Amino acid sequence: MTTVLALETSCDESAAALVMGRRVLASVVASQVEEHARWGGVVPEIASRRHVEALPGLIDRVVRESGLSLADVDGVAASVAPGLVGALLVGSVTARTLARLHNKPFVGVHHLEGHLCSAQLLEPPPPWPHLVLLVSGGHTELVRVDGPGRYRRLGRSRDDAAGECFDKVGRLLGLGYPGGPAIQAAALAGDPVRFRLPKGRVSRPEGGFHPYDFSFSGLKTAMLRQVRQLELERDPLPVADLAASFEQVVAEVLVERSCQCALDQGLGTLVLVGGVAANLRLRALLEKRAAAAGLVWFGAPLQFCTDNAAMIGLAAVQRLEAGLTSPLELGVMARLPLENAGELYGAPNGIQANGIEWPLRYS
Ligand code: KG4
Ligand code: ZN
Repeated sequence: MTTVLALETSCDESAAALVMGRRVLASVVASQVEEHARWGGVVPEIASRRHVEALPGLIDRVVRESGLSLADVDGVAASVAPGLVGALLVGSVTARTLARLHNKPFVGVHHLEGHLCSAQLLEPPPPWPHLVLLVSGGHTELVRVDGPGRYRRLGRSRDDAAGECFDKVGRLLGLGYPGGPAIQAAALAGDPVRFRLPKGRVSRPEGGFHPYDFSFSGLKTAMLRQVRQLELERDPLPVADLAASFEQVVAEVLVERSCQCALDQGLGTLVLVGGVAANLRLRALLEKRAAAAGLVWFGAPLQFCTDNAAMIGLAAVQRLEAGLTSPLELGVMARLPLENAGELYGAPNGIQANGIEWPLRYS
């Protein structure tokens, strides 16, 4: 069975995992959330420094917990795109050094491919083909998956990602960072239909609306206006009702457009992944609407919705089993469309063996 040591350092979670086939032998995440919370968001320089400090201990721990040694693994993997460049470099350099040292192949992983694979950790896993709703702090996408590495993006957010919107509204309501879990907790005691909020449609140049695209900037502004209006009334801010109404409208938009997309594509299976997939109101609504539409839905296991290295390990297992590895000279990229994840294997453009043309892009 293919066994991989995987590292994840694309944003503010340092993580390591040992994965054997679809089995997670050990997985640990060191979150930096408390440190970044002081600044109201992720500070890239701090994130990189903390990854450097955390990784050696995390790697030792997963190796010990799995009962294996690095001699037993078939490859060493790390997220290499998209993400914060300095943060990605820490995981990537560490993984490439270990690969070289132990004479193992290196597998660079597209972070979003990792999120897609988090649902493959379910037993049984969702069958292909299926539609994935990927909702994280950096991305909101509808992706058709026909098999490992076979992706087609059908919808996306034109502005903020859903998780980013949770984080900004969390700050607006004085709930702190990250906003997602804080809004979910505050919303428990709230009325989800007290405030009417916009569903953010994206117009098409030829008229009408894009059926599968999202826009969250209008919703963010509507929340700001509502809060300012309520502040004028000088009563205590109804934080629970605001949080519940916000969470409800985000869940409705995400669920309605993904169910429609799956039906239009003739796909019977809908898969929910990414940090926002941990949201219980979203999961409950998807459960209800998918059943009504005759769709089967799968939600990534809760502990593997937010960033972790087990999902990166699984993506690497699938690439290794397809006979693919990455060149040791592979750089990291702030951006890389999921459809181009294949560039991370073989000899992608711009890579030369002597390393003169490094494929490091800062855009
Ligand atoms: O996937 P992730 O860990 O990182 C990225 O790749 O971006 O997602 C983090 C995002 C944050 O914006 C956080 O607020 C959101 O996921 N999140 C949630 C919940 N838990 C995390 N959003 C809504 N409800 C939650 N329970
Ligand atoms: Zn992520």
